Amino acid sequence: MQQMIDRRLLLGGIVAGASATSAAAQTPDAPAPRPAKRTPVKNAVVLVTGSNRGVGRGFVEALLARGAKRVYATARNPKNLAEVVALDPKRVVPLELDVTNDTHRRAAADKAQDVTWLINNAANPGSFTPGERRFYSASNLDDIKAVMDTNCWSPAELARLFIPIILKNGGGAVLNILSGGALFCLPEFTSYSTSKAAAMMMTAGLRAETDRMPILIASVFTGGVQTRSLPIGATTAATPLAHANEVIDAVAEGKSTIFPATGPVNMRDRICQDPEGFERRVVERFHTNPVQIAPYD
Ligand SMILES: NC(=O)c1ccc[n+]([C@@H]2O[C@H](COP(=O)([O-])OP(=O)(O)OC[C@H]3O[C@@H](n4cnc5c(N)ncnc54)[C@H](OP(=O)(O)O)[C@@H]3O)[C@@H](O)[C@H]2O)c1
Repeated sequence: MQQMIDRRLLLGGIVAGASATSAAAQTPDAPAPRPAKRTPVKNAVVLVTGSNRGVGRGFVEALLARGAKRVYATARNPKNLAEVVALDPKRVVPLELDVTNDTHRRAAADKAQDVTWLINNAANPGSFTPGERRFYSASNLDDIKAVMDTNCWSPAELARLFIPIILKNGGGAVLNILSGGALFCLPEFTSYSTSKAAAMMMTAGLRAETDRMPILIASVFTGGVQTRSLPIGATTAATPLAHANEVIDAVAEGKSTIFPATGPVNMRDRICQDPEGFERRVVERFHTNPVQIAPYD
C-alpha cells in the first residue's frame, strides 16, 4: 500500500512538474534558447543511406558541390552506385548498406570511422498492394512491421552506431529525413505515416538526449521532391538537388526542425487550428481521390 501511495505521489509530482514547466515556458523566466548548433558542410564526412537515387542522390551531389571532404554513398545494391561514384571517384566511397541488416550497419560503422554527418534518408513506402499498408485491411502486419523497421528502427540503430563516431570526430550532425506523413495519418499510406511519426519522436528523443553534446539532430520534413515516390499528379516539386541545398543551408544555420519549401510548411498550424476539419478532408480524399505513387521494381 505504502508503495502504491509513493508511486501515486511520484506520478503526481511528475505531472505537476510538467505543468510548472509549461507555465514557465509562457513567462519571461523561460530558459533562454540554446545557441544554434551551426554545422557547416565544408570538410564534413557524410554517410547517406539510400543514395543511389532520389533525395539521397541529391544529397550526394550537393555535398560534393559544397565542399564535403568525403561522402559514403550507400545502397542495398552497391552496383546501383556506379553513377554516383563517377561524380567524384576520389571523394565518393560506395558501401553496401541495407539499413535493415545489422551486419551491414556494423560493417559500415567499422569502415566509416571518420564520419561527422549521418543522413538517414532510405525509406520504404510500403507494399504496392494498398490494403497491405493499412492496419484493418492488411492480411497480417508483416509489411507494416517491415516499413517500421526500415523507416524508424533502422535509422535509430544507425544513429546509435554513428553518434559516438561523430562525437569522437569532434561533433557534427544526424539528419533524419521525415515527411509530412509524420504529422497526420495519410490513410493511403498508413504504415508509412505511422513509421514517420514514430521516427519524428525518435528524432526528438535523440535530440533531447544529445542536447548538451556537440551534435545537431535534425528532423527534416521533406515533401514534394521529384523522385519515383512523388505522388502521381503532384504539381509543385523541387529537384532532389534543390531540396538537398535547402536542407544543408538550414543545417549550417543550426536549425533542428527543417521544413523545406515544397514540404509540409505550416501543416502543423493548420492541423492544430482545426484537427477534425483537417482529418475530414484527408479522409474524404482517401475515399474519392486517393493519393497514389507509381509502382516500381
Ligand atoms: N519524394 C518526396 O516527395 C518525399 C516526400 C516526403 C518524404 N520523402 C522522404 O525522402 C526520402 C527519400 O525518398 P525518395 O523520394 O528519394 O524515394 P526513392 O526514390 O524511392 O528512394 C528511396 C531510397 O531508399 C532506398 N531504400 C529503401 N529500402 C532500403 C533499405 N532497406 N536499405 C537501404 N536503402 C533502402 C532505396 O533503394 P533501392 O533503389 O534499392 O530501392 C532508394 O535509394 C525518404 O525518407 C522519404 O520518406 C520524400
